[in-house]
Amino acid sequence: MNATNFDIAIIGGGVIGLSVARALSGQKRRVVVIDAGHETPPATDAAAGMLAASFESAAEESMADALYALGAQSLAAWPAFAAMLEDETGLSLDYRDDGIVAVAFDEGQAAALKDSGEQLCARGGAAWFLDGGEARRLEPALSDRVVAALYAPGDAQVDPRKLLIALRAAFRKTAGRFFGERVVQVEGDKAGHRLMLSNGERLVAKTVVLASGAAATQLIAGLPPPPITPVKGEALAVDRSENTFRHVIRCPAQPALPYLCPKADGRVIIGATEIAGRRDAGVDDASVRKLRAGAAEVVPAVRDWPEIERWSGLRPATPDGAPILGRDRRGPDGVFLALGHYRNGILLAPACAEALAREILGESAPSPSPLIHLQPFHPERFVSSAGEGEHG
Ligand code: GLY
Repeated sequence: MNATNFDIAIIGGGVIGLSVARALSGQKRRVVVIDAGHETPPATDAAAGMLAASFESAAEESMADALYALGAQSLAAWPAFAAMLEDETGLSLDYRDDGIVAVAFDEGQAAALKDSGEQLCARGGAAWFLDGGEARRLEPALSDRVVAALYAPGDAQVDPRKLLIALRAAFRKTAGRFFGERVVQVEGDKAGHRLMLSNGERLVAKTVVLASGAAATQLIAGLPPPPITPVKGEALAVDRSENTFRHVIRCPAQPALPYLCPKADGRVIIGATEIAGRRDAGVDDASVRKLRAGAAEVVPAVRDWPEIERWSGLRPATPDGAPILGRDRRGPDGVFLALGHYRNGILLAPACAEALAREILGESAPSPSPLIHLQPFHPERFVSSAGEGEHG
């Protein structure tokens, strides 16, 4: 069978893969996106669409500043990214920049929020520390039990499903090709990578981008296996009907750490559990009850809002909680990684896509302003001095 030739093959048609495809489109490159569909529940299904640059931090302190900087740059890129995507497709993403509110129930939690607000301001972010009354004036749906809150006015949210639908629609408008298949194997070098698909079809591409989320496996010959583990997230949506509840709310870690994201269509997404190592799509009844109970502690009206649906997705986690971006110099030339966005794939999509397009295309790519640095996220950082392939 003859192979079809492309300049760039992107393995993974989720938010990250399609955002990279979008950043590469219009650059006179033949782009193909290959996606196996719901064989692995997508990370987008674990997301409620918070663009929470001020709150989501890396698991390793060594990556915290770099992840914050990347998140802040991506948050700043979001308004233009959303507006262009909406213009091109005529679809709404429900992008809203009303900020995000994290709440406290006691003095200990309030002190922790105050500290994180100070740290955020020291990094150049914006955060307002509010007492309980001020928090309720900002968001009247909050419980009387809330004694303090940290409001990050620059954070935002988007509807993750609408985003994925719009990215797919935008990609269909380009000359790019889409294959709904699994990639079984990739072999080659910069002269050309041969991709074998599950239906037996073969493709050839000069450049390969691995953006397959939690499904990232050892399918590229010569590339050390990326250290990705799935962290399952279960979520539910309730119907808030006429209620004016408006802000994204993050609950305290005790008794649970749910967040609530009110969407324009009347749904409130309540997410999400964190279960490491599970790959199945099931949703546990007890998990959903716990999420809803935690959310109702903070927004009591949640108790009365009917459940509309529940679902789960797999976040792709890395050992240090930060993504893996760029070329792995131990692997074949022409292979780039866009993996491990864990809880931040939606937030990081615009910045990662722009920066990767620039790394792939070199100087011919439009220059993002200011320049986004991928170096801290390079794939080789997990190799310990004890030996190749170990994860630090
Ligand atoms: N982005 C939030 C989550 O992954 O649950």
